[in-house]
Amino acid sequence: MKGVVLAGGLGTRLYPLTKITNKHLLPVYDEPMIYYPIKSLVEAGIDDIMIVCGGNHAGEFLRLLGNGAEFGLKHLNYTYQEREGGIAEALGLCRHFVDGDKVVVFLGDNIIGESLADAVREFEHQNGGARILLKEVEDPTDYGVAKFSDDGEIVEIIEKPKIPPSKAAVVGIYMYDSQVFDIIKTLKPSDRGELEITDVNNAYLKMGKLRYSILKDFWADAGASIEAYFDTIRIVREHKLSGRKR
Ligand code: G1P
Repeated sequence: MKGVVLAGGLGTRLYPLTKITNKHLLPVYDEPMIYYPIKSLVEAGIDDIMIVCGGNHAGEFLRLLGNGAEFGLKHLNYTYQEREGGIAEALGLCRHFVDGDKVVVFLGDNIIGESLADAVREFEHQNGGARILLKEVEDPTDYGVAKFSDDGEIVEIIEKPKIPPSKAAVVGIYMYDSQVFDIIKTLKPSDRGELEITDVNNAYLKMGKLRYSILKDFWADAGASIEAYFDTIRIVREHKLSGRKR
């Protein structure tokens, strides 16, 4: 299984913090933001990882991460997204890297408080298709949101709905088989001019090939807003300090 960490974009929602560095390099308590997704992938047994950089300051990723020795990796792969084309477009750049394998895509500003190993194992045993992670949140209007049928099946994922059909937000961690690259080729840009990962997930859903896992511990989308960034640092700090006390 391959891993992809998406770390492009201009990070305008955190401006001016992102004026002189990339959002994913900002500190989250005692480590740079991008350390968290990389560590989650490595802990789940994924050691072949591509970092998709983009926007300004992309060279700083190399300076910080090098060959990934700090994470116990032999090497890291890098590519560069030339424009703000969206999550699905960024993933599309990884076709040759994924090379027919399965892939776990991790947004570089997402942080989770639990191991990804169980969900990855379930996806390994899943007969192809896709697996997303859901987390119940009080206000899901900033995220992709799952709409369920009466018997608990997902019937649609709606991107940033004004009136959410449930509280189940789609976490920025996605697992796909290599068909994802054919799906990406069929996508049209959304109103915000991006190829939406939610359209990819709905395509798998229509084929009856989308499964989901539910996150139990915390999930933070550190780049969503300055408030989300601030909350993330607080939550990560509490999580790490309580772990050290145990
Ligand atoms: C993206 C996805 C959204 C998902 C979120 C998780 O939103 O489009 O479906 O819930 O990541 O972080 P964006 O950060 O592009 O606004």
